[in-house]
Amino acid sequence: MRRKNALVVGIANQESISAGIAKELSVNGYNIIPTYLNEKALPFVKEVTDQLGVDKLFPFKVGNDDQLQAIIDYLQSAGLRLDAFVHGIAFASEIKKDLHEVSWQSFKDSTRVSSFSMVEITGKLIAADVLNPGGSILTLSYIGSHLAVEGYNMMGPVKSILEALVRGLASELGGKGIRVNAISPGPVMTRAAGGIKGFSNLLEVSRNASPLSRTAELDDIGKLAFEVITNPSITGSVYLVDCGSSVTIRVPS
Ligand SMILES: NC(=O)c1ccc[n+]([C@@H]2O[C@H](COP(=O)([O-])OP(=O)(O)OC[C@H]3O[C@@H](n4cnc5c(N)ncnc54)[C@H](O)[C@@H]3O)[C@@H](O)[C@H]2O)c1
Repeated sequence: MRRKNALVVGIANQESISAGIAKELSVNGYNIIPTYLNEKALPFVKEVTDQLGVDKLFPFKVGNDDQLQAIIDYLQSAGLRLDAFVHGIAFASEIKKDLHEVSWQSFKDSTRVSSFSMVEITGKLIAADVLNPGGSILTLSYIGSHLAVEGYNMMGPVKSILEALVRGLASELGGKGIRVNAISPGPVMTRAAGGIKGFSNLLEVSRNASPLSRTAELDDIGKLAFEVITNPSITGSVYLVDCGSSVTIRVPS
């Protein structure tokens, strides 16, 4: 049987949510094609990918079309087609500012990196015909798309845009047999999360709100990601993996 291939954009280090997803895909027989942001990030990304037996990594920064083309050239020359594209990237230069203080430039840049890049990359993969029918695109959202979460500031609206893009792309690409979804984990301490004001408190609040008295870990998130990526009936949806913390209000007695 042909080995399935997954392009994974968003591994920074062992703590990255995309690392958890790549591991679960790899355990389930996927060949992982990972990217790294820059040379500084490479050794940390390799710590993850070496464990998965991956020897080919690609530099990629949103907006660098040559780097994206190099990935496509590799796929085409190696006769590989993608069965999954994992979009696990986010950036907001003014995340520490209150929403009403954020500049248009920062909001625009964050929307491109964190949301629209899913569309840009998908568009290039489709134009090059390297995405298999039956293939799956998965991105990562957060409940801040629906709720005003203190400290999450500008990323809430950016995630709302991302979720709307998931629905739009899913509607457009269903005819090609391609599915598009998001999963929405509860808080996980990662590099990106470390930039969010009061993140340790957010972890604690979420743990306390959870009926299970815990938060989701990389393994939990990886398992849901694999299900959403491979289940042929799922498209255009956002799935929570947060131990119930965002659907529960607990009142101390
Ligand atoms: N950590 C959480 O609590 C949490 C919760 C819900 C959703 N998410 C989402 O999960 C995704 C992954 O984040 P994470 O928490 O694993 O953090 P992370 O720091 O491990 O990953 C973020 C990734 O984004 C990449 N990135 C940033 N700017 C980029 C650019 N210009 N071009 C290419 N790549 C770029 C980084 O290199 C890094 O690999 C993000 O979309 C984040 O919003 C995180």
